[in-house]
Amino acid sequence: MKKILIAHDGSDTADRALMQAAAIAQKFGANLTVLSVVPNLCFTEIGIDCDTVNKLYRAEVEGTVEGVKDLLKEKGLEAETLILEGSPADIISDHAKGSGVDLIVVGSTGKQATGRMLIGSVSSKVVAYAPCSVLVVK
Ligand SMILES: Nc1ncnc2c1ncn2[C@@H]1O[C@H](COP(=O)(O)OP(=O)(O)OP(=O)(O)O)[C@@H](O)[C@H]1O
Ligand SMILES: [Mg+2]
Repeated sequence: MKKILIAHDGSDTADRALMQAAAIAQKFGANLTVLSVVPNLCFTEIGIDCDTVNKLYRAEVEGTVEGVKDLLKEKGLEAETLILEGSPADIISDHAKGSGVDLIVVGSTGKQATGRMLIGSVSSKVVAYAPCSVLVVK
C-alpha cells in the first residue's frame, strides 16, 4: 500500500473519509493525495454562461481545499492537495489509474446528500469504475 487517494467535496462525510484515509496512510507509511474535482457543468438553458458557472465552482473547490489544508495542519498530517476539472467520478478513477493508486477513499454521501440516498452518485460510480479497492466511509 504505497499511494492512497481521498476524494474530497467539502462535505462533513468527506472530512471523516479524510481522517480515515490519513490514519491508514500513517499505518502503511503511504503517500496521501487529496483530490477535489471542479465539475464542468453548464446551465445555458437558464441563461448563465459556462465560464461564469466554472468560475463559481472553481472558487468553491478552492475554498474546500483551503479547509482541507487547515484541517491537515491542525491534525499534524501530511498530504498533497490536487484540483482537477471534469466529471468527478471519471476524474477520480482516471487519476487513480494514471498514478498507480492502491486505495481510493470516498464518503458514502457528499454535499448534495438528501437523507433519502444511501450512497451518492459519485461514490457509487467510483466503486464501479475504479481500478483498485475503494473504501466508502460513512
Ligand atoms: N467534486 C468532487 N470532488 C472530489 N470528490 C467528490 C466530489 N463529489 C463527490 N466526491 C466524493 O464522493 C463522496 C460522495 O459524494 P456524492 O457526490 O456521490 O454524494 P451526494 O453529494 O450526497 O449526492 P449526489 O450524487 O447528488 O452528488 C464525497 O464524500 C466525496 O468523497
Ligand atoms: Mg455530490
